[in-house]
Amino acid sequence: MSRLVVVSNRVNAPERPGDAPAGGLAVALSAALREYSGFWFGWSGETTDQPSDKIQIRRVNDVTVMTVDLEDADYQEYYNGYANATLWPLFHDRIDLTAYDRSFSEGYERVNRRFAEILAPLLQPDDLIWVHDYHLIPLGRELRRLGVGNPIGFFLHIPWPAPQILTTLPGHRQLVESLFAYDLVGFQTDEWLWAFESYVLGEAAGGWESDGRLRAFGRSLTARVFPIGLDVEDFQTLAASPMARRAYDRMAAHTVFRNLIVGVDRLDYSKGLEERLLGFERFLRDNPDLRREILYLQVAPTSRGEVEAYQDLRMRIDALCGRINGLYAEVDSAPIRYVNRGYRRDELAGIYRAARVGLVTPLRDGMNLVAKEYVAAQDPENPGVLVLSRFAGAARQMPDAVIINPYSREEVSEGLKIALSMPLVERIRRWRRLMDGVETSNVKVWRDSFVEALRASREPDLPFGDRLRERDPGSATAAFADVSPGGVRQAQFRAEWPTGPAA
Ligand code: G6P
Repeated sequence: MSRLVVVSNRVNAPERPGDAPAGGLAVALSAALREYSGFWFGWSGETTDQPSDKIQIRRVNDVTVMTVDLEDADYQEYYNGYANATLWPLFHDRIDLTAYDRSFSEGYERVNRRFAEILAPLLQPDDLIWVHDYHLIPLGRELRRLGVGNPIGFFLHIPWPAPQILTTLPGHRQLVESLFAYDLVGFQTDEWLWAFESYVLGEAAGGWESDGRLRAFGRSLTARVFPIGLDVEDFQTLAASPMARRAYDRMAAHTVFRNLIVGVDRLDYSKGLEERLLGFERFLRDNPDLRREILYLQVAPTSRGEVEAYQDLRMRIDALCGRINGLYAEVDSAPIRYVNRGYRRDELAGIYRAARVGLVTPLRDGMNLVAKEYVAAQDPENPGVLVLSRFAGAARQMPDAVIINPYSREEVSEGLKIALSMPLVERIRRWRRLMDGVETSNVKVWRDSFVEALRASREPDLPFGDRLRERDPGSATAAFADVSPGGVRQAQFRAEWPTGPAA
């Protein structure tokens, strides 16, 4: 069986079950890798002031992890710069926060090239290579330049922006062109897939091959939707652990006669925290009789704290929480508890279970696994209610949540009211359907369908690299030419699920 080589910027396989994650990607990937041989390659999370190609190899929780450090300049230009101050805001429709700085894009290209140079010699001819997220879009192109002929897939964990937004990026064309070095490109929802197709058709004069592959820049690829899911069994084991039970008991003891509303997000402007707080303030204003009956717990660990937009956001959230608590607190209670640190996943599972409402209201989000974890942690006999933004990718799969528009304070407030007053029968009815979806569309389905599609994206007997070397030793251009539709056997199909959130 082929090995699976996973590449992502952030590589943090949890050391112990329950360790705190840095985002949905890391959790989903370590779950995926546990069942395949192969390894996970990426950044160590450390920086150095000296260039170093040293690879650190560890075995973590049954997963082989290979990491490299980033030089200080790379960390600034590639990670804080192009990844998190250019692509992240742009792909979340925040042109106002997007930094269009040439040194950032140079750092981005440099790190992608370096990652490819370190990775290429570690590869075996029948490895399947799966690259993740916006940090590494050009990695496939760089691997091809080095003559890597293996099937290479790319999965984008975040939204793909509409063409009008993407074209504000200098170099948008090269960025999209570099995606055409992959055999397979996956998105979380049909909305992001359509936005990508629309760019390719409208801006790159692309079209479709007869087998359904998308063609542009003289090459073709398969673009498809693969909604990411939870490792449900693993999460339910965490939810049943002593740590989860202790967290549950602590929260329950703390909220006697009160309903707990919980939000858990990285401190990121895409998560809609300010809008959520303002919506909650509206709820407090409009429902004086309920003020003493609820507690809103917001867990928001600092994220990307060296990027200015994140520092500004933190100050605004601190101020908002202080203002709202100042207005509505009593001597013995305050409506908001804001915690600026991360928690272990088992503790979070207990907290989710104790919460009558899970409040997940991003302004834009690729999927949002907190929504799914909240559902998976509930007591089937007395489940809480998920209030979910229509702009989270998860809303496409979870129409039984209370779906709201996070920009509208009234809708956030009304959503909370509906959730808090929902009768038990209705809560159970909705939860059952949500849980069925979480169980069906789980991380294994996501992983296996992507890997299967990647495998199928090539003829099994296509010895890509060998043919390349025979014909034109050392030529990267020839390598590219071989990824042509002629060498591809591809069944085109798309994942099916409810087409849109309930109004
Ligand atoms: C999101 C991104 C991931 C990223 C995570 C945490 O989930 O899609 O690629 O790893 O946020 O962000 P960080 O910058 O800490 O890696």
